Amino acid sequence: MSNLINQDPNMAIFDFSDDLKNGINAMDEEHQFLFQAINHSYDLLIKDKQQAYAYFNDVILSYVDKHLTHEENIMRKNGYPEFDQHLKAHDLFRKVVMELVPAVQAGDPKAFREVYSISMGWLIGHIEKVDSKYGKWFAAQGLTGKINGEEAVSQL
Ligand SMILES: [Fe+2]
Ligand SMILES: [Fe+2]
Repeated sequence: MSNLINQDPNMAIFDFSDDLKNGINAMDEEHQFLFQAINHSYDLLIKDKQQAYAYFNDVILSYVDKHLTHEENIMRKNGYPEFDQHLKAHDLFRKVVMELVPAVQAGDPKAFREVYSISMGWLIGHIEKVDSKYGKWFAAQGLTGKINGEEAVSQL
């Protein structure tokens, strides 16, 4: 995983600060990876657009999909009452991205700008405002320790 990311903290545009953690360690680590990947993709965009396109398509989108599925499994298994709404938010995002991917893969710069800006804004806002909610609910139910004992971080 680490060789796919520029770890230079001076290059970080967005810090994954503690207030973004929701207490489910596997989710916090995956969210942190996504922040690092977003920072790395900005770095690539400045240096080499083709590499940035490839990194976005091959690394970020596939990792996001794995992460969303992992998160859904945790919420479903542990009886999170807002699961349906959360799943709808994930599915809407998947649909918007999937519609743009063929054009991005064909090298259309307009589609890349669109999918890139939608993805970055959505991911950061969703982690901060929506993913924080299940963390609070699990903590209130005393489930955080149990989930942390069960879940491993997704591997690329
Ligand atoms: Fe998430
Ligand atoms: Fe989520």
